[in-house]
Amino acid sequence: NTKGFIFDLDGVIVDTAKYHYLAWKNLATSLEIPFSEAQNEQLKGVSRVASLHKILTWGAISLSEEAFNATMNKKNEEYLSYISKMTTSEILPDVVRVLDFLKETNQKIALGSASKNARIILDKVALKEYFETIVDGTNVTKAKPDPEVFLNAAEGLQVPPNQCVVFEDSVAGIQAANSAGMISIGIGDKTVLHEADHVFRDFTEMPSEFIKELIKK
Ligand code: BG6
Ligand code: MG
Repeated sequence: NTKGFIFDLDGVIVDTAKYHYLAWKNLATSLEIPFSEAQNEQLKGVSRVASLHKILTWGAISLSEEAFNATMNKKNEEYLSYISKMTTSEILPDVVRVLDFLKETNQKIALGSASKNARIILDKVALKEYFETIVDGTNVTKAKPDPEVFLNAAEGLQVPPNQCVVFEDSVAGIQAANSAGMISIGIGDKTVLHEADHVFRDFTEMPSEFIKELIKK
């Protein structure tokens, strides 16, 4: 049996969620907008543009188009300075074990990320060659929870959506996987990701037996 396994990037493969958080937090602070961890949760999986719109809404601030773009670039520059220092040590625990297991069992592997920086990060952590298809923020027009990113990944893998499994750490991403008709696996907190078909704290808690069962389904 061959299935399509689609990985989100930020917060699933690497812990870049903390860098996004830092950069948004500094930006919000500079605009005197309070920014909590709970609000940050709502930005996970959400595109750069949509994230800034949300933050500005929380602060009841409106910016001219020019200022909006400058603010977005500022955030990205800070974020890029963090990721430029990334190494393979920042790959989350057991991600490589799962990727190797999928390769050994001839499964198809894709990346489905909202990030425009996805390729840079995969290069930094030397994982690019695992992915047969990469769909990222530069290839999609509709952000998660829209299923576009995952449907494009399935198409790239030439696997029907109902034969695909998605690993996601964000609420928006789980919703996107569900509306694509795929099996959704949450990586993170069960309470936050309660809409997922299955949830694991991280990959260390996901036995190879579980993956074997998914492949058989
Ligand atoms: C998602 C992250 O993967 O990518 C979001 O969860 C981020 O936090 C989004 O805003 C867009 O990323 P980037 O790298 O294009 O700003
Ligand atoms: Mg994510």
